[in-house]
Amino acid sequence: MDSKKFFITTPIYYINDVPHIGHTCTTVAADIIARLHKQLGENIFSLTGTDEHGQKVAESAAKVNLTPKEYCDKISPRFENAWRDLNIDFDFFIRTTDPRHEKVVADLLQKIYDNGDAYKDKYEGWYCIGCEKFLTETELVDGYCPLHPPEKTVQKSEENWFFRLSKYVPKLIELIENDKTNYIFPEGKRSEILAKLKMGVRDISLSRENVEWGISVPWDTKQTVYVWFDALINYYSATQFLDNKKDFWPANLHLIGKEILWFHTVIWQAMLLSAGFTVDQLPKKVYIHSFYMIDGQKMSKSLGNVISPQQLVDLFGVDGTRYLIARSFPSENDSDVGIERFKEKYNADLANNLGNLVSRITKLAEGLKTNNVENNLDQKFIKLLDNCRYDEAIGLVFDKFINTSNAKLNEVAPWKLEKTDPKRNEVLTYCVDNLKQAANYLKPVMPTIAEKIEECLRDKVKPLEKPLFPRI
Ligand code: MSP
Repeated sequence: MDSKKFFITTPIYYINDVPHIGHTCTTVAADIIARLHKQLGENIFSLTGTDEHGQKVAESAAKVNLTPKEYCDKISPRFENAWRDLNIDFDFFIRTTDPRHEKVVADLLQKIYDNGDAYKDKYEGWYCIGCEKFLTETELVDGYCPLHPPEKTVQKSEENWFFRLSKYVPKLIELIENDKTNYIFPEGKRSEILAKLKMGVRDISLSRENVEWGISVPWDTKQTVYVWFDALINYYSATQFLDNKKDFWPANLHLIGKEILWFHTVIWQAMLLSAGFTVDQLPKKVYIHSFYMIDGQKMSKSLGNVISPQQLVDLFGVDGTRYLIARSFPSENDSDVGIERFKEKYNADLANNLGNLVSRITKLAEGLKTNNVENNLDQKFIKLLDNCRYDEAIGLVFDKFINTSNAKLNEVAPWKLEKTDPKRNEVLTYCVDNLKQAANYLKPVMPTIAEKIEECLRDKVKPLEKPLFPRI
């Protein structure tokens, strides 16, 4: 590969749900980072997709009288289309029912088995079908999984294949403790995982007995690969079965939400080490974000407070939605969002500020010859985006180019000056240069709007045909 490679992933979403703004925030966040790195001249591979095996998918399919595969084929496009509608520029949409993925899963599990890291044992305890996860006593709240309705927590007693997770704990602690090899961000999550690892870790089951909808365990076809082992491998399998993607492994960034932290920072790395991957071949960085809350409550179907990406696109347009998601992104803390809040932010930042500024400038400066401005992005901005601090990164652009232009316009009031007055020319040129810079910086977040702004300012200033962001 000639230029630097950058491989970024989102979680693959459970197919039995409908896309909501929780899923959307991770996907938009990944797309912004992917577009940023593309703009920096890197060679990008961005991956998203759907998680299609397991008990809950089989149950959802049965409810609507479809086979699991028919059900998946019907539902998966909902996610793919939702992301296309948001102008997500992903390179591949993976589905875990793709036979090419299934083959990589079987091969990788076989390696784990060949290395002596799988053994048969009895599992007895609680399982949450919502999380597709075995629960420890300490994870139960009043006897149930705190994230899902009580009926999703079921008692299980079955013979499973177990994975020697505990064997890899010392190695993982060593990697995470060392700043050079640590892969867990932000810092709070790194310490959380270290503390948990040091408290002692039990081996986990890698297969399920009575779940038919999944991939067969290669050395014991009566058992099915536990859906999380199957799902995690998607990140690697896509690089293996697609043409010319092998060099993209290891992933540069797995972007995930906080509820799936353990799988992505402990189990995944242990699986890879067990299958013979070296430390250099482990994912470089896992960034764990927090949650969107709707007016202080968790978003859930049962509470009826789920917001869909389409609802936002209908109100705010594609780029408006991307902007609002980025500005409210739950980096380290949960972020309280809601339609009313989004409307206020949209009107304040986009309709009344950026949009209005572009209208005013392009009208006032119509016909003005424009300069070529330097289009490098500064390191501080790049670093903020790379660390998922979208709000701060965008804030920087507003402060530096947009608010300064507004202030200058109001101070000089060029509309009161004669067209021949050099002061008028000077202030308009200053604002046009600033807008060109702003457009360049905002490209990863609002690609279409940025292009429209650039278009109006190419060679000579041309007025906008219609407002960029109609007021709501
Ligand atoms: N299928 C698994 C992931 C397997 S990855 C190998 C899964 N799927 S999920 O459909 O439940 O999606 C979980 C992801 O959706 C979270 O990690 C997060 O990225 C996103 N979110 C779901 N709800 C969310 C919020 N309320 N807020 C922010 N993001 C949330 O888990």
